[in-house]
Amino acid sequence: MNSTKDTLRVVEASFIISAPNLKLCPEQDLPEIAIAGRSNVGKSSLINMLCNRRNLAKTSSTPGKTRLINFFHLRIEPGDAHLNLVDLPGYGFSKAGKAIQSEWRKAMQDFLTQRPLKGILHLIDARHDPSDLDIQMREWILHSKIPVITILTKVDKLKQNDIAKSHKNVKAALDIQSGEPCILTSVPKKRGIQEFLLSLTDLIK
Ligand code: GTP
Ligand code: MG
Repeated sequence: MNSTKDTLRVVEASFIISAPNLKLCPEQDLPEIAIAGRSNVGKSSLINMLCNRRNLAKTSSTPGKTRLINFFHLRIEPGDAHLNLVDLPGYGFSKAGKAIQSEWRKAMQDFLTQRPLKGILHLIDARHDPSDLDIQMREWILHSKIPVITILTKVDKLKQNDIAKSHKNVKAALDIQSGEPCILTSVPKKRGIQEFLLSLTDLIK
C-alpha cells in the first residue's frame, strides 16, 4: 500500500476549451488521453471524480449531454505530471437523430484516428454486457495500437458478487489480457481513483 506521501492526487484541474471537430481543436502542447464510451456511461462524471470537483465536466442523467470535444488540463502530484484529458461525446445515442449522430461519429473518428494520443480510457457500464459498439470500439483501439485503460463504471449499482462476475465477463467479452488495466470505479463511492491515477501516469511516462 502507498503511504500518504506517495498517494497520487490531482492538485490542479481546469477546463481548457471545447471544440466541435478536429480542425478546431487546440494545438497539442501536453500528453493527451481521450475518454471514449457510450452515452451516459459516466465519462464526464469520472473526470469530476478524479479531480475531486462537482461540475468541472458537465454531467446529466439524460444521455447525449457532451456534444463537443472538451479539453481539461490536470496536474498530478507527486511527480508533477501534466496531461490533458479529452472528454468525447458518447456513442450509441439513438435519440440524437441520424444527422447529429453521424456528425458526432465523424468528429470522434477524426479525433481518434488523427490526433496523436498517449492513451484511451474506454468506459464500460458494469451493469451490462459490452454492446456491439463497445466491442467495435475495442477492436478499433487494439488495431490503432494506442494504449488503453478499460474502466468499469457504476459498480456501486451492483451487489458485491455481481461486481466480480461483471469484471470477469467484461474481460472475456473484450478480450482483455492479464496485466492489462481493467479498473472498477464508482463515482458516489469514490472507488478506483488511486488505481486509475497510477495507470494514467504510467501512460505518460
Ligand atoms: P454523455 O456526455 O451523454 O456521453 O454521458 P457521460 O458518459 O458523460 O455520462 P455522465 O458523466 O453525464 O453520467 C451519466 C449519468 O450517470 C449521470 O446521472 C451520473 O450521475 C451517473 N453516474 C456516473 N457515474 C456513476 C457512478 O459511478 N455511479 C452511479 N450510481 N451513477 C453514476
Ligand atoms: Mg459527458
